[in-house]
Amino acid sequence: MTLKKICCIGAGYVGGPTCCVLASKCPDITVTVVDISEARIKQWNSEKLPIFEPGLDDIVKQCRGKNLFFSTDVDKAIIEAELIFISVNTPTKTYGLGKGRAADLKHLESCARRIANVAQSSKIVVEKSTVPVRAAESITNILKANVKPNVKYQVLSNPEFLAEGTAIKDLCNPDRVLIGGERSAAGQEAIEALCWVYEHWVSKEKVITMNTWSSELSKLAANAFLAQRISSINAMSAVCEATGADVSEVSYAVGSDTRIGPKFLQASVGFGGSCFQKDVLNLVYLCDCLNLPECAAYWQQVIDMNEYQKRRFVNRIIECLFNTVADKKIAMFGFAFKKDTGDTRESASIYLSKYLMDEGAQLRIYDPKVEDSQIMRDLTAPNISENPERVDKLVSLFSDPYRAAEGAHAVVVCTEWDEFKTLDYQRIYNNMLKPASIFDGRMILDHEALHDLGFHVETIGKKITRGKVTRQFPSV
Ligand code: NAD
Ligand code: UDX
Repeated sequence: MTLKKICCIGAGYVGGPTCCVLASKCPDITVTVVDISEARIKQWNSEKLPIFEPGLDDIVKQCRGKNLFFSTDVDKAIIEAELIFISVNTPTKTYGLGKGRAADLKHLESCARRIANVAQSSKIVVEKSTVPVRAAESITNILKANVKPNVKYQVLSNPEFLAEGTAIKDLCNPDRVLIGGERSAAGQEAIEALCWVYEHWVSKEKVITMNTWSSELSKLAANAFLAQRISSINAMSAVCEATGADVSEVSYAVGSDTRIGPKFLQASVGFGGSCFQKDVLNLVYLCDCLNLPECAAYWQQVIDMNEYQKRRFVNRIIECLFNTVADKKIAMFGFAFKKDTGDTRESASIYLSKYLMDEGAQLRIYDPKVEDSQIMRDLTAPNISENPERVDKLVSLFSDPYRAAEGAHAVVVCTEWDEFKTLDYQRIYNNMLKPASIFDGRMILDHEALHDLGFHVETIGKKITRGKVTRQFPSV
């Protein structure tokens, strides 16, 4: 089965880049990305895309208007497409049953209802959003309950594994593509159609097919395993700080075991991003609902350790600044949840800022890609601050890291942007209040050199003692 028209509902961090790569790799397919947000679609059709992702601009320039389209006409795109990706957001529920843990599936369900309402021919509906196990069953039930003559549906699970900041690279060269579907002949035919799409650029052996529930659960499992590695190394970082061991050395030693491998063992100020916490909580809720409390508690600990790490880091900042940060100026370098993205969802920086604002610190924030309005939205969100006017008083935003650090008591590195490694720290030191402290929450700076400039230096997972030269281990 070959396909001519694909549509994707949801033009976000997943739908956008995924369809751009799809269009560039499949010139024989017309790809239309639709969204209910007019603002977002307008940005996708403009020179300034709604998301920053290395390599994305070039692909959009190459395909937009040829076989790649962005539109708010959701119904038309559904009617015309043979295959429909659903890439809408599935955030943690903030209300009702499962509040704070379960995934909110209202957007997913509304897509299923819309497809059922407007489709006039058979469709393959592909669940790309991350969902709890058996979500495809709900989509199928909605579609089948509203079925029209001559319209048949097949629902597939095809979770996305891209990471932000490397999305284009990940999409062009995925470790694997997962496709789950029904074992029936019609199910197999739908699976084959989606395999055919991916095989335009992904080798056959990397396209793994399985049953729908395994595919849905594999996505939650993969994110839980990755988050668990970070929480494990972060737990080790606390032991390192208490003992004099160095977490980068421990990480290198542990990761050199080929059974363990070196990736995702970088201790940090805590993981952020829209996926890890949401998906682990989703898994915890699933385990609880399945009456598996021990499994739920096991995965909950991954989240608890992440909370502990963020809190622990702030406590150290406060302790090193003589147990009070009230009215002290603290320059925060980085607000995005990781480098090479402008995304701040669940960024550790938000929580570090909150805890420091709770203590009355004056924050001076710089990030190379995050919009000022986004930082203020994050810091005035109801779960972060009850008093937006106080946030206005405590927070200043800068477009230059040197200005942010001017007159500050401390610099806190929150995001591992490459540019922070090559700043002129002598200049920064000269313009700061003394004693000048630097807290490297990402272990990216040359601590020895900073010491020599006169900084008081603190980092994750290592006691820094003057004059001690530690070997640098490659971070992965
Ligand atoms: P996002 O919030 O960036 O984008 C979702 C988009 O869907 C929004 O633009 C929203 O307006 C649109 N939308 C919501 N309901 C709609 C509807 N009924 N009709 C049309 N458009 C609608 O979210 P995202 O980061 O792209 O994530 C999407 C899904 O992919 C989530 O389930 C997420 O867990 C999963 N995922 C995300 C990543 C990531 O790195 N961000 C990676 C893998 C998987
Ligand atoms: C993650 C998964 O990696 C991806 O496969 C999935 O599709 C979506 O969720 P993402 O959240 O975009 O991707 O970025 P990722 O690189 O996983 O980083 C998540 C967080 O963990 C960031 O805050 C990052 O700084 C942190 N991290 C990552 C660490 O603290 N240490 C590490 O070793 C790796």
